[in-house]
Amino acid sequence: MLSRIDYRVAPGGQLQGTVNVPGDKSISHRAIMLGSLAQGRSRIENFLEGEDCLATLGAFRAMGVKIERTAGTSVVVDGVGVHGLQAPGEMLDVGNSGTSMRLMAGLLSGQTFDSVLTGDDSLRKRPMARVINPLTQMGAYIESEKAMAPLKIHGGRRLHGLHYEMPIASAQVKSCLLLAGLYAQGITEVIEPGPSRDHSERMLRAFGYAVESGEGRVCLTGGGNLQACDVTVPNDISSAAFFLVAAAIVPGSELLLPNVGINPTRNAVITILRAMGAHIEQRDERLQGGEPVADLLVRGQGLQGIKIDPALVPLAIDEFPAIFIAAACAEGETLLTDAAELRVKESDRIQVMADGLQSLGVEVEARTDGMRIIGLGEHGHLQGGIVNSHGDHRIAMSFAMAALRAIEPVVIRDCANVDTSFPGFAELAADAGLAIEKQVQE
Ligand code: S3P
Repeated sequence: MLSRIDYRVAPGGQLQGTVNVPGDKSISHRAIMLGSLAQGRSRIENFLEGEDCLATLGAFRAMGVKIERTAGTSVVVDGVGVHGLQAPGEMLDVGNSGTSMRLMAGLLSGQTFDSVLTGDDSLRKRPMARVINPLTQMGAYIESEKAMAPLKIHGGRRLHGLHYEMPIASAQVKSCLLLAGLYAQGITEVIEPGPSRDHSERMLRAFGYAVESGEGRVCLTGGGNLQACDVTVPNDISSAAFFLVAAAIVPGSELLLPNVGINPTRNAVITILRAMGAHIEQRDERLQGGEPVADLLVRGQGLQGIKIDPALVPLAIDEFPAIFIAAACAEGETLLTDAAELRVKESDRIQVMADGLQSLGVEVEARTDGMRIIGLGEHGHLQGGIVNSHGDHRIAMSFAMAALRAIEPVVIRDCANVDTSFPGFAELAADAGLAIEKQVQE
């Protein structure tokens, strides 16, 4: 039987110092994918060695791409060209990674060979119709049961470009269609109801592929080539978010988070925390390989509850578990609406966060599309207790930070998946001052 990892976090304390969070997950996935499809050798620095990105790396190796992990977090990819992938010998198992599955569904639809994409229990329950439907309209043929993985993707189909109006703002759907569009005849154009992360567009251009974008539309013409390109991955703002919140909720804390990606389609966690009264400085803003980065300095001070602007939801989509912890420690009510997407992430993040917060004594109301949280204020405390993360990495890390404001220990169950996005989280957090202990349950 597999062992389970729990976290036990002693209450109180504060975080201080400098924390270098690992490389960005979304950008690491895309660097492996585009590096594999390019002509020539691409070097990737600060690659995230989390299980999700390693699943993408493994899938491309299984399709004949030579990918070497060299010193530290450097990776060298010998691209095989847009038409150079080979049929994998077995199913491509991408574990917990929705990004691998949805983006790869697009590019596998354009291959000459058949393939099967599968994943873990959580991923096999997540909705894939959002990519199957538009890909089918492009001429792909994907078999599945109830539009969930495993996905059997038939090769040898002739894809044609599509004008597609996305019903939800999703970078995964947009990127999936752009990757399929590389293989399609004509123009693939995606219309977004609101902005979502634009790493695919930026990186396609860095690899020499023409992508037009602006005013809610992105488009490219199929049939081109990608040229190898070196990518330096910024540190992941989604991983930094746990530390931003940890410092923000404890007056007197001060943390420096160097080299964090602050792409405007990803940085709304900073906007939201600032609106709650957090002190966050962006120092030395610069461009690194086409992506904006900065050093973030955060200091703890009293926070207030807010009504979160719905337009910011897609721009902070992965940070809500951490933001809910900030809301629980703020003065008064925080209201999130228009965020039903949170229910179909690695877990139902509305229900699982509501249950966990309730067990720590916070008054919350889970709503179909969001959450209402009554914060405890600067002088209030969370209770201790046991929280089930349901195997969701971001929920585990968020509740670990919540213990800073608790009066009794917080035990978080089922934390092994933290390694999907943030290997070394517990050690890094402990170095900064969190009294966190990993417990292996046989
Ligand atoms: C991602 C896009 C987001 C995000 C996910 C990573 C990506 O999903 O939640 O963790 O790398 O494109 P959606 O685009 O489906 O919201």
